[in-house]
Amino acid sequence: MKKRLFTGLQPSGQLHLGNYFGALKPFADTYQEYESFLMVADYHSLTSLKNPTELRANVVEVVRAYLALGVEPSKAVIFKQSDVQEHTELAWIFETLVTVPFLMQAHAYKDKVAKGIEPTAGLFNYPMLMAADILLYDTDVVPVGGDQRQHVEYAREAANKFNLSFGQTFTEPTEKILENVAIVPGVDGQKMSKSYKNTIPLFGFKEEITAAVMSIVTDSSGERPENVYAIHKLFKSETELASLYENNRGNYKVLKEALAEDIEAFVAPKRNKRESISVEDVKRVLAEGREKAHTIAASKMADVRQKIGVSL
Ligand code: TYM
Repeated sequence: MKKRLFTGLQPSGQLHLGNYFGALKPFADTYQEYESFLMVADYHSLTSLKNPTELRANVVEVVRAYLALGVEPSKAVIFKQSDVQEHTELAWIFETLVTVPFLMQAHAYKDKVAKGIEPTAGLFNYPMLMAADILLYDTDVVPVGGDQRQHVEYAREAANKFNLSFGQTFTEPTEKILENVAIVPGVDGQKMSKSYKNTIPLFGFKEEITAAVMSIVTDSSGERPENVYAIHKLFKSETELASLYENNRGNYKVLKEALAEDIEAFVAPKRNKRESISVEDVKRVLAEGREKAHTIAASKMADVRQKIGVSL
């Protein structure tokens, strides 16, 4: 029997290279080895996005991106969080099991608040909705970027708390982090993130890619522009880059142009494939995914309701 894999992505903005290397690529490369679930975390994205037109467009974009990268909907369950109401229901139950001081330790929450994102109750409870996402499906493996490691720990803790209180019900999941791309840096050298406005778009046009690359912050003290190099090595091996960086020592403009070209060469075919996928295709995929996900989630919640005593 194949192990079960579950992962998710918020439709909170334009997809970027951090999403690609931290989530889309690892999923596209490995999903067939597992029984795989891919969820568009639309309720999670409400913690930062309150624009219905944008949200609808972003949901379509996320699914389109996975399809453009070759993920076959017949071989993975692709669905939207809000389509399976058991997620928010189970999140509430977990919220009654974990403490406020425990949730206060969340790095992601603290980072987002420090960046000026409004500290809503939803943002604070975010990890328990994510725990519900993962645990409803008896997930074994959760592939995520390094920034989400702690959230998977929270899911384990929620499973543990529930199992101790009500008897063995949930499987404890394990995160799967790609070490060499654990955190893709943005143009300012910090984690590339929609909320930090430091992204390089995944399906951007050449001009957008070039503009983003040219804005990479460089510092003249080191041997080479580290922020440029850190992104460059995602596209070329360190051996390939050695002579380029050696021959153009101090010439940051040339190095940035070379990076922009390498990104464009990589993105262009994917951008074309993405164009060929319609909104109708996306809706069809999500409707099928909803059926499959809901069957599993509903059966798990029937068990949970029985165990906690709300089913009479
Ligand atoms: P989100 O939408 O912020 O990001 C989606 C995935 O992309 C990874 N990622 C990165 N990886 C490396 N470098 C970066 N700069 C970078 N930026 C983003 C993230 O680690 C993530 O894997 N909470 C999740 C969404 C979610 C989820 C889930 C994930 C909701 N429920 C259940 C797994 C399982 C999030 O905010 O991802």
